[in-house]
Formats: sequence, C-alpha cells, structure tokens
Amino acid sequence: MLKITNNKIIRLKKISSTQDYAKIIADKSDEGTIIITEIQTKGRGRYERKWDSQKGGLYFSIILKPQININKTFILTYKMALAILDTLKYFVNKTELKLFLKWPNDIVIKCNNKYKKISGILTESSIKKNKINWIVIGIGINANNKLPKSLNHIAISLKEITKRNIKIEFIFSSLIKHFEKYYNKYPTNKVMEKYRENSIIPEVPITFINNQNKYTGKIRKIRNDGGIELTLSDRTKTIFYSGDVVLS
Ligand code: BTN
Repeated sequence: MLKITNNKIIRLKKISSTQDYAKIIADKSDEGTIIITEIQTKGRGRYERKWDSQKGGLYFSIILKPQININKTFILTYKMALAILDTLKYFVNKTELKLFLKWPNDIVIKCNNKYKKISGILTESSIKKNKINWIVIGIGINANNKLPKSLNHIAISLKEITKRNIKIEFIFSSLIKHFEKYYNKYPTNKVMEKYRENSIIPEVPITFINNQNKYTGKIRKIRNDGGIELTLSDRTKTIFYSGDVVLS
C-alpha cells in the first residue's frame, strides 16, 4: 500500500528540478518520497522541453517502487493523470469549462474552442536486471503561477480559469489522496476505461509527431497496453507508444 506521510515529503524553496533531485536520491529512498519546491530554475518536460516554473505553481516529483512488469510502467502515468484530473475538476467544475486528458500525459482545458495545457507529467524509470528499480513521476500544475506571454496560446493557469488564488497545499494534498486511491485500488482495465472516457478523441484527423516524423490520421482508440492506435490517411493502422498528438 502506498501511504504518503509528512516525513516522506522534502520541501524546498528553490531547486533546479525536483525530477533531477528525486532521481539522485531514488535508490536510497522509500517508496512514496516526494520532493516539492516553490520554484524550479531548470524545470523540464518530456523530450527535454523547458517547463516554466515560476513561483505559484505546483512542482513535485514522487519516487515509486512498484512491483509490476516493466512493460506496465505506462499505467502509473495514466493513474497520475486521473488523479490530477479529479483534483482539478473540483475547482474547474464550478466554471463552464471542461477538463480533458490529451494522450499521453497532458491535462488540458477547452476554452474558446481551443485546448490549453494546465498540467503535464514526466515519468522516468530505472530498470535493473529486467525489474523496476524505481520510477520517478514529476508533476507540474499551472496553479497561481504567471505564464510567459509566449505560452498564452497553448497554456493556462488554474487562477486564470477560476479567477482566484487556490492554496498550493490544498491542491497538493488533494492530489496525493487521489493518487493513493488510483495506485492502491485501481486495476489496469479500470484505469484505462476512465482514461479513455476523459481523453480527447476528435472525429477529425489529427497530426501525430513521433521521432520528428509527422503523420496525419484519425485516432481509433487508446489501447489497454497504453498505446494509441491511428488510421493514417493511406488507411494503414499504426500503433504508437510515444509521441505527441497535435490538435489544430
Ligand atoms: C510535460 O508536460 O512534458 C511534463 C512536465 C513535467 C514538469 C514537472 S515539474 C516537477 C518535475 N520537475 C521537472 O523538472 N519536471 C517535472
């Protein structure tokens, strides 16, 4: 059972990246250890993209040591995505806007017919002798932080949505509770079902980017093995396990 207690939470004011810190201490740390900070100077996202981490946002990484098969690690990202969704829904449902999951690791909100990112997840792992040594999941939520103008068309904060400041500690503790629930109690099929129910699966073709290759196709489904299945414009069926869905 995963139970996160206060003594497992390392609280910092400023750090380059909680993800890098967590990876350094992961070997010697207990499952459920969390590093949380107010500011990151080198916050990063998937594919080494910069994660803007000014004061007011929620930035943390959690160390996990699950006894699952190495090809099942994707499920932890999806469990975290659902936990973030439950947490944010509590605040966003009071507005007219709706939250969605965007495969594989984004939580977005639909405003004026455009999807804007409010949170992202970065999952990294260490494998030893074909077994999971540790998994570090990093979470960034745009809560009360100011976003640079250059991101205004693709990202948004909870404060902009709700027009009020929401205490970071409140978001954090609620997210931890939801994550414990999914981690301890939800089997893969239930997680995938809920993940699919909340995912953006447009009727129209989308652009998909994988290893710098661009594809156009329609999303058929998100599979139980974590992959995304597309029918490309030449009608071939393709499954991707990493990459980015680009919505127009
Ligand atoms: C993404 O959307 O590509 C993932 C963003 C993950 C950002 C978080 S913030 C806390 C943790 N530390 C990092 O440097 N990155 C993750």
